[in-house]
Amino acid sequence: MWKRLAFLSSFRLASSTSLGDLYKASYSLKFYQLFSTESRDLEDDCHASKIKLPWITFVLGGPGTGKGTQCQRISQTFGFTHLSAGDLLRKEMSSNSKDGKMISALIKEGNIVPSEMTVRLLQEAIKSSQSCKFLIDGFPRCNENRVAFEKIIGVEPLFVLFLDCPEDIMVARVLGRNEGRLDDNLDTVKKRLEVFSNLNLPVINYYYEKGKVQRISALGTVDEVFEKIRPLFSSFSRFQKKEEQKLSN
Ligand code: ADP
Ligand code: C5P
Ligand code: MG
Repeated sequence: MWKRLAFLSSFRLASSTSLGDLYKASYSLKFYQLFSTESRDLEDDCHASKIKLPWITFVLGGPGTGKGTQCQRISQTFGFTHLSAGDLLRKEMSSNSKDGKMISALIKEGNIVPSEMTVRLLQEAIKSSQSCKFLIDGFPRCNENRVAFEKIIGVEPLFVLFLDCPEDIMVARVLGRNEGRLDDNLDTVKKRLEVFSNLNLPVINYYYEKGKVQRISALGTVDEVFEKIRPLFSSFSRFQKKEEQKLSN
């Protein structure tokens, strides 16, 4: 399947000792690019940067932990393009497409939409963007999502940002969201929490074992959480500049 495997570099995330008690030690993060036929297309679309393939960070966490809120802040500060899998599915749901009804039924029950569909929406969004830096929020939600992404898009995440939050806070945030979402009610939230621990946590664990997870506590105000996240992306920005300099020399 893979045409080529190119090891690019590695970088050390700065002062991760301050980033929570679970993943204390700072570690080297191997970053590499996997080239497949499909990702070659993506390469052609990446005009904005000398880096050939997109930099991808997955942002994971239970419902209401603040993934969307923090992704907005990260995008504004560090120039990433924010792609929320849930938002893409909701857009598809309301577009009267043939899959809309099925997506709506699955979301209403808190279940996971077939991976091919979600990955196709992500792929279209990545390809139609001029950006080379993406925050993919709420994806992969299960191992099947992850495998489909690897097969179709063929790019490994730079790292996985895991927003960790107690369940009672998640429930309170979801119920207070007030955006008219059909799944922001107590019954569906309970189901989504089950799906989170049964299907989403194993994916986080998969990346943890690969040394790719950065866990951040989602407790505190939006500003406080963002200040805990900031060093990860500052470190990445320095790394990106160095890589781009190397490529332009
Ligand atoms: P997610 O994308 O993880 O489901 P959101 O970013 O949509 O979560 O946040 C869920 C709700 O919680 C929103 O109403 C948001 O304004 C609120 N929220 C997000 N972060 C915080 C925070 N740190 N403290 C209090 N409320 C928050
Ligand atoms: O991330 P968000 O809370 O917006 O997701 C809402 C719903 O969208 C999920 O509960 C699930 O039904 C669906 N979804 C999915 N696959 C994803 C992301 C979201 O099926 N990768
Ligand atoms: Mg969200």
